[in-house]
Amino acid sequence: MKTKDHLIIRLYIAFSLMGLVAQAQETNYDESKVGTYVLPDALTTLNGQKVVNKEQWEEVRRPEIIKLFEDNEYGIIPDATINSSYRIVEESDNALGGKAIRRQVEITFSGKGQTRKMLVLLYMPKDVKKCPVFVSPNFQGNATTTTDPYVIESQFSTNGRANQTSRWSYDRIINSGYAVATFQYFDVYPDKDNDVSESIYPLFGINSNDDLQDNTGKAIAAWAWGCSRVLDYLLTLDNIDGERTIVLGHSRIGKAALWCGALDQRFAMVISNDTGCSGAALSRRNYGETVLSINNSFPWWFCNKYQSYSQDVSSLPMDQHELIALIAPRAVYVASAQEDQWADPRGEFLSLQEASKVYALYGLDTLQGYSFPAVNEPLWKGSCGYHIRSGIHDVTDFDWEAYIGFANEQFKFSKK
Ligand code: GCU
Repeated sequence: MKTKDHLIIRLYIAFSLMGLVAQAQETNYDESKVGTYVLPDALTTLNGQKVVNKEQWEEVRRPEIIKLFEDNEYGIIPDATINSSYRIVEESDNALGGKAIRRQVEITFSGKGQTRKMLVLLYMPKDVKKCPVFVSPNFQGNATTTTDPYVIESQFSTNGRANQTSRWSYDRIINSGYAVATFQYFDVYPDKDNDVSESIYPLFGINSNDDLQDNTGKAIAAWAWGCSRVLDYLLTLDNIDGERTIVLGHSRIGKAALWCGALDQRFAMVISNDTGCSGAALSRRNYGETVLSINNSFPWWFCNKYQSYSQDVSSLPMDQHELIALIAPRAVYVASAQEDQWADPRGEFLSLQEASKVYALYGLDTLQGYSFPAVNEPLWKGSCGYHIRSGIHDVTDFDWEAYIGFANEQFKFSKK
């Protein structure tokens, strides 16, 4: 009798839990079921003071928000002295049909008796004295971004050559007078649920997952760090314009690009391509991917503390509009794709719109009052740009054309 009772109770608990999990993981794509939410105010400090000018923003509120993202979402990379050395592995002034210089640079990072290597592929237009530059990590390896046979395969690439070329409009970029630098994101943190020892973290004395504190960064923090290290190198070159630098990322890499651009104010422009949950999209909206599902599927992207918000996003002390606000007054572009509802395009737009309040402190035009734009009709105001393009989760030539056009406008640049 007793055993039977226990069995019934156990079955009851098991079924209830299954029900809860199913409920929690059901993805909402219905705007009427997004629910109501209150966003933390980017312009109110933790002790309740209103931020009314850019000085208060820069001295008080901006550092507060950075710390909130460090402690609760992306994590920090510990302070340590890292030495970077650069070796040009290959170079040609006859690349991309003779229009570009191609340079492949191995960066060796050393710290705490360890070394890690990153291979950077850089194309620079030959006919521009000081070129603006895109820094953008790739998913599958440098050689997958181009049909250029001289491009060396990245160390962790198993993807062969030229299978991601549609994402890299190198001709358009070079023809527009921009340089572009890429590296495979695995070089700094392999995108797997493995031990952090396989990444750059041992350079900082984090030698295994046992060394992780609640707020130690993992993959996204590392990818962001990698973009800044590429910029360090680019800033040593005479023909790169250090005032016109852009960090751009797609999807998970775009989440890292946003975080990088938020922290590293040397980047003059930040581009979020289809970054969605824990990128540009508001976390508090129940639409598409949620913090619960991202934490369940990709726990190695965020610091451990982020897990504690899975069941209650409203307890997050910040939201993603504040990440975008950290980029102010520098230029920011958020792009979505119509068929990428998982990334919550409307939530990405609303987040940028909300962030533009901080841009107003700098006297810049904002997106306040504008409604969600029509598909394939970019909306650019002040230093903020947005579009939703037709099609799927991807980076396309349409996106690149918009980014270059926006950058030309922001940088007052045009290749004559
Ligand atoms: C998954 C993940 C997203 C991420 C995307 C990508 O879909 O849920 O958060 O942006 O992968 O990186 O392509």
